[in-house]
Amino acid sequence: MYRTKIAGIGMYVPEKEVSNEWLTQYMDTTNEWIVERTGIETRRYADKHKETTSTLGAKAALKAIDDAGISKEDIDFIIFATLSPDYYFPGCGVLLQRELGITHGEAGALDIRNQCSGFLYGLSVADQFIKSGMYKNILLVGAEMHSMGLDFSTEGRNVSVIFGDGAGAVILQPTENENEGILTTKLHSDGTHAEELAMINPGSHGGYHLHEVDFGFPDEDLPGEIFVTQHMLDAGMMYPNMNGQLVFKNAVVKFPEVIMEALIEVGASPSDIDMLIPHQANLRISQFVQRKLGLRDDQVFNNIQKYGNTTAASVPIALCEALKEGKIKSGDLVCLAVFGSGFTWGSALIRW
Ligand code: COA
Repeated sequence: MYRTKIAGIGMYVPEKEVSNEWLTQYMDTTNEWIVERTGIETRRYADKHKETTSTLGAKAALKAIDDAGISKEDIDFIIFATLSPDYYFPGCGVLLQRELGITHGEAGALDIRNQCSGFLYGLSVADQFIKSGMYKNILLVGAEMHSMGLDFSTEGRNVSVIFGDGAGAVILQPTENENEGILTTKLHSDGTHAEELAMINPGSHGGYHLHEVDFGFPDEDLPGEIFVTQHMLDAGMMYPNMNGQLVFKNAVVKFPEVIMEALIEVGASPSDIDMLIPHQANLRISQFVQRKLGLRDDQVFNNIQKYGNTTAASVPIALCEALKEGKIKSGDLVCLAVFGSGFTWGSALIRW
């Protein structure tokens, strides 16, 4: 059986850099509050007239394709992870395919909706396809354009200061070299707190999960007026919401747990990790995880300071920068770990 290796990687972040100070013109917040609670100093916002989630993804994908030394036509499967798709449907996978000009119909495209865990879920799915011998060049993309859907009023400040736009992509290939590639992936989920980090409108829920909330649904049983109501729009119910403290409390337990699960499976311990790339949710969460596992600063990579939380894009962007900065060498044990909405969480161990 083959192992799966990351044969190429690329990232793209939009040009427009947005400081914490810039946000203060729209909401009651301060640079100090944001830096102290999240570590974020700047984030990037895409050009809403020229860019979309799938075009950001395509730019990262082209770099990954180039890095792998393959041509676009070699891609035999596409996996696209995002929570901020161009369209409700179809998914970004086919839009990216069109953007890349590989619409020959031979490569399938799969969309993943696992928010901050999306890239890792995609990696695990790709790993199974490669190991089984089904595909030889899988393009996995994580991309987000959060800036199009955030509440920039003071009411939405706990969410909107955190998120940024960007994209990361990898090319996954089989390898017969036993000393490299993905050693294991671990995926978990628990829907108990599904609405505590969520964007629930528009949706088909019809108020089912949240009876006490007035969504402004009409009394008459009219089909078609339940997905989006005028009341939802007027009341600003189209934005993501987050119970920050609950997310924090769960994240700092699940991150170390799922990292340890992977390490134990391969007979390793935290001291064997050469580089941990945690999902860039919040610098405080990463620091907590680092302390809990007893890792040195040089064993953990963070770049949330520059890009904010880019959800499905955060792990490939961080991995790409860690590589560019020479922080990962051949033979290193690299650990990826994620936690996010759902809740969903997971980890991967890769021998580089
Ligand atoms: N600027 C200024 N004040 C803000 C603010 C902002 N951007 N956002 C919230 N506040 C205020 C709140 O309104 C609250 O005010 P009050 O005390 O007058 O009611 C106060 O700050 C504390 O709010 P709280 O939500 O308790 O803050 P916190 O210490 O939990 O920090 C988060 C908020 C969001 C930074 C923190 O909970 C967190 O990082 N959670 C995890 C989020 C995350 O990682 N999400 C992504 C998961 S993939």
